[in-house]
Amino acid sequence: MTVVVFGSINMDIVTRCRHHPHIGETIHGDSVTFYPGGKGANQAIASAKAGAETHLLGVVGKDAFGTQLLDYLRNNGVLVDNILQIELPTGIAAINVADDASNTIVVVAGANGETKASPSIIQALEHPVGLAQLETPIKEVAHFFSLIKGANGVTILNPSPYQPIEKSLLQVTDILILNEVEFSKFAGLSGNIDATNAAHILGNMECDISCLIVTLGRDGCVVKTNNSVEYIKGVPCKAIDTTGAGDCFAGVFAASLNDGRTYCSAAERANRAASISVTRAGAGPSMPEQAEIDI
Ligand code: RIB
Repeated sequence: MTVVVFGSINMDIVTRCRHHPHIGETIHGDSVTFYPGGKGANQAIASAKAGAETHLLGVVGKDAFGTQLLDYLRNNGVLVDNILQIELPTGIAAINVADDASNTIVVVAGANGETKASPSIIQALEHPVGLAQLETPIKEVAHFFSLIKGANGVTILNPSPYQPIEKSLLQVTDILILNEVEFSKFAGLSGNIDATNAAHILGNMECDISCLIVTLGRDGCVVKTNNSVEYIKGVPCKAIDTTGAGDCFAGVFAASLNDGRTYCSAAERANRAASISVTRAGAGPSMPEQAEIDI
């Protein structure tokens, strides 16, 4: 099986600062660094480094960032034949990372807004694992998933940044991966869930999805399948930058299904990988190698 990621490719402009500025406040930052990013690109790198043959379907600009990002993806083992370069600026993310490793992110889609699902690569694959997020047009994500289902594949949606998911998209989604904030919105809860109430809330929830995973940051994740709810503990680590940790989880989870693991075993491996990624700066560059995950 092959993993096909449909998604965004950004250049991340990352400032490190002691704390996040308040509205109307100007603060001094400690550094600024340009890192490869974008949820689609990060997930594809995570999947490829975890050992899966991984294609990325996406769009970058015909500019210096676009060319740099294509080279970076290629050098990290991602198959880039289905990434277009067009006459729009490459997507940008302005990211602040504070001393407590938390981040705020503003994304400007640029060329990502033109990402379209094309049948050519997918029709040639047998039982592909399709993975998508929501930094590209949601209508195209639904089309991508219907193509994956047409090839008897499995579809994984990481609805981030969150927007309401229409029934037509849910109908072609097999697995949902959300963080605690996204899950609260998805389930219409008034508060967030955490490690103390997650398994209980998920256990009582009616849901047609084959597998629903809620990631809980340092507290691990909960995996709900048709017949079980399992809590997987977080792996202790010293986080310096949480940017891309959710992408690491999604990409390694997809790669692990590709390996024939169960949902819970794939989530355990993804949880381990994400705990490594938060110990490194940047999103794309923080994705661990297979040998680091499977020690
Ligand atoms: O999930 C982290 C990613 O979100 C960053 O790399 C940034 O590009 C935004 O897409």
